[in-house]
Amino acid sequence: MPVWFNPARELDALLRKVAPSVAGFDADFNPELRPSDPRHADFQANGVLAVAKKAKGNPRALATALVDAVKATGELDEKLFQVEVAGPGFINFKLTPVALGAWLREYRDESKWRAGAARMMGGRKVVIDYPSPNTAKQMHVGHLRPIVIGEAVARLIEFCGAKLTRDNHIGDWGTNFGILILAIRRAGFKLDSQSPTALDDLERLYKEGSVLTKADPAALDAARAELAKLQSGDAENLALWEEIVKVSNTACQRIYDQFGLKTDVILGESFYRDKVDQVYTELQKVGLAEESEGALVVWHDDEPRFSRHAETPMPFIVRKKDGSSNYASTDLATLLYRAEYFKADEIVYVTDGRQQDHFQQLFRTGAKWFTATKRTLPRLRHVWFGTILGEDGKAIKTKSGDPVRLQSLIDEATERAFAAVTAKSPELSETERKAIAKAVGIAALRYVDLASNRTMDYSFSWDKLLAFEGNTAPYLMYAVVRVRSIFRKNGIEVGKGEEGATDPETPTEIALARKLLGFTAALDLALEDLRPHHLSTYLHELAAAYGAFYAADTVNVDDPAVRARRLMLCARTCSILETGLRLLAIEPVERM
Ligand code: ARG
Repeated sequence: MPVWFNPARELDALLRKVAPSVAGFDADFNPELRPSDPRHADFQANGVLAVAKKAKGNPRALATALVDAVKATGELDEKLFQVEVAGPGFINFKLTPVALGAWLREYRDESKWRAGAARMMGGRKVVIDYPSPNTAKQMHVGHLRPIVIGEAVARLIEFCGAKLTRDNHIGDWGTNFGILILAIRRAGFKLDSQSPTALDDLERLYKEGSVLTKADPAALDAARAELAKLQSGDAENLALWEEIVKVSNTACQRIYDQFGLKTDVILGESFYRDKVDQVYTELQKVGLAEESEGALVVWHDDEPRFSRHAETPMPFIVRKKDGSSNYASTDLATLLYRAEYFKADEIVYVTDGRQQDHFQQLFRTGAKWFTATKRTLPRLRHVWFGTILGEDGKAIKTKSGDPVRLQSLIDEATERAFAAVTAKSPELSETERKAIAKAVGIAALRYVDLASNRTMDYSFSWDKLLAFEGNTAPYLMYAVVRVRSIFRKNGIEVGKGEEGATDPETPTEIALARKLLGFTAALDLALEDLRPHHLSTYLHELAAAYGAFYAADTVNVDDPAVRARRLMLCARTCSILETGLRLLAIEPVERM
């Protein structure tokens, strides 16, 4: 019988398959299978209680009947699972040491895990939209989360078998271009995309332009006219706009390179400028959009907050009253394009939590529009995140009140990592410490962002970020180095020396083996809601379980079978830590 990569999923499927043939169970039985307190079992199914309540039956009798039916299929290997009905009618599944040993021998490296995890999303086409910054601005601390969370979520989805397209949906068609073009014209500025200060110049000009248009209504009209000219295809404004976008993309690329970020396409909002008319026409034709004070809007009367009767009405404006498109129009056109061109089964949007209303309105509008036009709506998910705060609990700003630039954050992280590595390992050469610091600095920035639930705000603290103890990148990266050093000392490669390994035996071996298998449950949890912190929490727990094992069980013992199985546990710990860190886009280092 094959060894299940993800026993919880397979047990869940088996229970669902068998239940309808057992008296008292419906076709839509939910086993409510979840990881259990490891002292009692590995997994527990609680779903029988609800069935018993509804049918007014005896839960223990129902649970026993279900267990018997499952055993009768012959699909549950009793050498691998101990099954028992417990308490008022739970079903407990316990993995035997034989099962743990079999799993460790079968799932030995990344290619095996990928193959196993492909059961989760295999064959699905997914488009992920990140980091999607607005153009003509320096990247600042606010851009850290879409880069870091976006990449981790992307890797997770890909690992679980989906065919993924990374689409960097840059904001390159907004109202800010009117102001910027006006300011450039007024200053008589010659934009040179090769100039190293080009983006700084644009930022300065934009600031001047917005001061001007706020103070002077005539200037505001002039800015609007520049935007209208651009949007109606004026050659000069288009050429200038192209140059601005180029400057901006070059600057962003420098940041992406440092984060190792590679997106597949950058279509951007501007790509949809000739695709919004179809949106207006269709939405009106199916009666979803209506004119309101000159604008075209969509109401959702089935949701009080977005209904026309809401206390503070919040229409989804899909065309502005001057006739121009906006964020909503381009997003609707983008949705259609991703469904039709990319044939997306699923679209994942990674943005700040302040855009939740926008996405709820977009998803509702999309659902009704697609139904009315007999299209299949992809699954739509908004992966939103909270704000990064300074140690004082307020948004992090520089002394001048501007948001901290991402580049200075990266530089400071690298410098501080250098100091930390130097303090820990002064014997390493300076070149080596520099290389390590570069990896650790970026890793620490990423990890702190991925260690907490993404929907929470978190406060940024350099000490927390770079500590070698606690749930941090340096701690986990160092854990990898420590496991690797066992193999180095023995003069063998990771994964070698485990021939003849017996099943885990001591309590600490068994606890570590269970934790290793828990990788699949962590993947499941992280995937469910696209929350990478489930993975980082798991990695931290795994490192702790390894620490306990290492303290209790000597690896280099005379008995070859014991040594082999302990080397196997070390190798799996090493590879799962490395694979897990890579899923978070953290590249492990050999020495630290
Ligand atoms: N450019 C937007 C911003 O910086 C994010 C775009 C997200 N993607 C989307 N399809 N709306 O806030």
